[in-house]
Amino acid sequence: MPAVTTIQDLKEMHRRRVPRMFYDYAESGSWTEQTFRENTTDFEQIRLRQRVAVDMTGRSTASQMIGQDVAMPVALAPVGSTGMQHADGEILAAKAAEKFGVPFTLSTMSICSIEDVAAHTTKPFWFQLYAMRDKTFVKNIIERAKAAKCSALVLTLDLQILGQRHKDIKNGLTVPIKPTLPNLIDLATKWRWISGMAQTKRRQFGNIVGHIDGISDMSSLSVWASESFDPQLNWDEVKTIKKMWGGPLILKGVLDVEDARMAARMGADAIVVSNHGGRQLDGALSSIRALPAILDAIGDKVEVHMDGGIRSGQDVLKALALGAKGTYIGRAFIHGLGAMGQPGVTKALEIIHKELDTTMALCGETKVADLGRHNLLIPEDFEGRWQKT
Ligand SMILES: Cc1cc2nc3c(=O)[nH]c(=O)nc-3n(C[C@H](O)[C@H](O)[C@H](O)COP(=O)(O)O)c2cc1C
Repeated sequence: MPAVTTIQDLKEMHRRRVPRMFYDYAESGSWTEQTFRENTTDFEQIRLRQRVAVDMTGRSTASQMIGQDVAMPVALAPVGSTGMQHADGEILAAKAAEKFGVPFTLSTMSICSIEDVAAHTTKPFWFQLYAMRDKTFVKNIIERAKAAKCSALVLTLDLQILGQRHKDIKNGLTVPIKPTLPNLIDLATKWRWISGMAQTKRRQFGNIVGHIDGISDMSSLSVWASESFDPQLNWDEVKTIKKMWGGPLILKGVLDVEDARMAARMGADAIVVSNHGGRQLDGALSSIRALPAILDAIGDKVEVHMDGGIRSGQDVLKALALGAKGTYIGRAFIHGLGAMGQPGVTKALEIIHKELDTTMALCGETKVADLGRHNLLIPEDFEGRWQKT
């Protein structure tokens, strides 16, 4: 087997080892996938300033996100159905993150439950919440996150209804997989995945099944899930959730300056500039392009994080140098998980860490806090071109 040295290598292994419907579920965006594509290609527009003859010894990528120490400011993003990419996926990813010293964020729509992840880890993780119509569910899950000692609530604001991903519809995506002929043919080549899944009991949405009256099997769950995201979510509800939670709050899915100002006024501990990895509003700005204007508007009032399109340590450095205090990776760690389970997530983190560290050095920097726009060469129209006039 050739050496794995890039996130792209992990992606290729992920594609070969995981059933196509779950690989496609991860590696896709909504409609034409323009925003999904530009999340990565817009990083390429920004260039790095090479500096020489600068003492690069004693470097560190260590930093803080919302006051919590991190080995590098790169958290694992909430990713629904992670436990379908690899058996016990959320537990394995949380363990890898814990060992590496970066935050793990558990999705509401995870396969392993909050309690299960808490039982298999020793340090607090973050919990991501979707606002749901079912207010009892929201109240209860916040209580469960508190009981599990989660150290931040990440409230996702950009999914009141679902963006459409053609691949998922065409593949007939279901959790668990339906034994149709095309699926069985695909599964015949995915023996590692099958053997992992055969050995685990975690094959349903762990935070939901058994916690909602009347939800006991897949068909009742599907009906509940399709009707459950709250289309009426508004800033008052954000306030209510903030009060209910009472701990560190991160508002995720902000892409517009006006919304960023509102989010800052809410008194959140951080906001995440994000378009859900290009899975919601296709045609929206890439996160890296939306970031500078948001930083200019609220960067001095609230910690600004970003995600979307990060596939390397160079990408992380670009986001930090623009002014983000933290970043998240979604697909980059999912590729590692699908490829090799826990060691694969560790590998993804190692790759990004090494790239970040070396890139810092070659830019003449030794500390995350010293990174700034002076490290970048940005095209003149990068910030202004697509901004609202
Ligand atoms: C397969 C998949 C599932 C996701 N599920 C969730 C989710 O349950 N909750 C959420 O807030 N974001 C979810 N996201 C968005 C990620 O948290 C993150 O914003 C995105 O993956 C960042 O882009 P990247 O994958 O290019 O790093 C999901 C993303 C992917 C790829």
